[in-house]
Amino acid sequence: MNKLFNYLEKEYKVRTPRSLELFKRASRVMIRGGSHSLRLWKPYPFFPYSARGAEVIDVDGNRYLDYWQGHYANILGHNPEFIRQAIEPYFNQGAFHTGLESLSQVELAEEIVSSLGQSGLKVRFTTSGTLAATYAVMLAMGHTGRDYLLKIGGGWHGASPFLLKGVKYHPDSGFKNHDSAGLPSDFHRKLIVTKFNDCEHLSKTFKKYGPKLAAFILEPFIGVGGFLFCSKEYLRLARSLADRYGVVLIFDEIISGFHFCASGLQRLYGIKPDISLFGKLIGGGQAVAAVVGRSKIMEGCEKTTKGRARVHFEGGTFSSHEGYMRAGLAMIRYLVENEGQIFSYLGQQAERLRKGIERVFLEQGIEAVCTGYGNEIVQDSSFFMVNFPRKKITYNCPEDLWNPNRSEVRLREEALKLALLIKGVHVVHGGGCLSAAHTPEDIDRTLEAYAETARIFRRFR
Ligand SMILES: Cc1ncc(COP(=O)(O)O)c(C=O)c1O
Repeated sequence: MNKLFNYLEKEYKVRTPRSLELFKRASRVMIRGGSHSLRLWKPYPFFPYSARGAEVIDVDGNRYLDYWQGHYANILGHNPEFIRQAIEPYFNQGAFHTGLESLSQVELAEEIVSSLGQSGLKVRFTTSGTLAATYAVMLAMGHTGRDYLLKIGGGWHGASPFLLKGVKYHPDSGFKNHDSAGLPSDFHRKLIVTKFNDCEHLSKTFKKYGPKLAAFILEPFIGVGGFLFCSKEYLRLARSLADRYGVVLIFDEIISGFHFCASGLQRLYGIKPDISLFGKLIGGGQAVAAVVGRSKIMEGCEKTTKGRARVHFEGGTFSSHEGYMRAGLAMIRYLVENEGQIFSYLGQQAERLRKGIERVFLEQGIEAVCTGYGNEIVQDSSFFMVNFPRKKITYNCPEDLWNPNRSEVRLREEALKLALLIKGVHVVHGGGCLSAAHTPEDIDRTLEAYAETARIFRRFR
């Protein structure tokens, strides 16, 4: 393995001298040389110079087919011309940042609510998924008067202080650990972690903690946990247990929202949460996130109930910024208008990619298994994550992907990343998501890069 890493690092360094210089400069003034650990891969990240469509070009002039697409926010690729056109007139008016309520937020809120096909919903915007998750938890606690929370092991809801447990897998204890210092121990004690898609575990957990729980928060399509869909049976059970125990059911759709259809994934499942979280692509490339919930719960933002103070959900200085809202509105309207073509195109090309990746590795005698495949409910999935099983397993839960005894995690996270960068493809967690800007020829080029990577892996095995 070390020989493989040495080879890959050497090749990467030859191609990226300017990025190395920038990284050294960054490291002098910034912690670890940047602002987000996922972007700070070893030995150092490339620095982008420009980005358009499927591609990013770095400061050394290297071109990468990009499957990270701005943390999965750019479903239409980088820098769509029509979004630029939607926001340009506004910036030309000079009202760059007014700190006043925007007009377009109303239209964006209308679009989101109408896509969900549910009456009695209210929206409030903020600027990140982390904040949206935090506010949703506060609303649930305010509404129920309880302060325990339930989440899924492997689930990531941003760095919300309430939810930083059971995110990172620990070989000894699984998804039970605290993921951040600097928080009151009470937060950890009151955050309960259950198992992905495990109905029996969920029922038992509700039996034990149900009357204390303010909310159960989950991703119907788990993102960093492994690009896996919840089963319908699991979501149904979640809904009925939440009802039985008076718990607020929160669907974190920050990745899944508008990524499988022009609405939340909840629309395809036909299961309605009490609160939904949207982010990433609903801003059309700008900083927008939304909390969408039943009026009765959202009203907690404005009035005191049962003698309790209101929930201080103020979206922040830049919340519902008119420029961001216009970008988001242009994006959502485009997806609604083109729903029939976009999602089936993404689904078909991603299917070809997932199957092709598995094939090119197998040709070199290496088993690679993709997650991200759709299920009986979701036909068109644009996500793919490439895993290297240590023994024969079906990837069903985050433990399968993140337990180093089940999967070669370093091979996926580090070696695959560098090997593909050298071949002009940028991935995170061994894959990512397609954008509508990726052409069938881009998929062919990507498969060739994976095939070359498979040959390199075989050479160093
Ligand atoms: C499912 C999910 N929820 C919440 C977040 C946090 O969003 P943000 O990074 O905008 O704070 C993320 C970010 O990746 C996410 O994937």
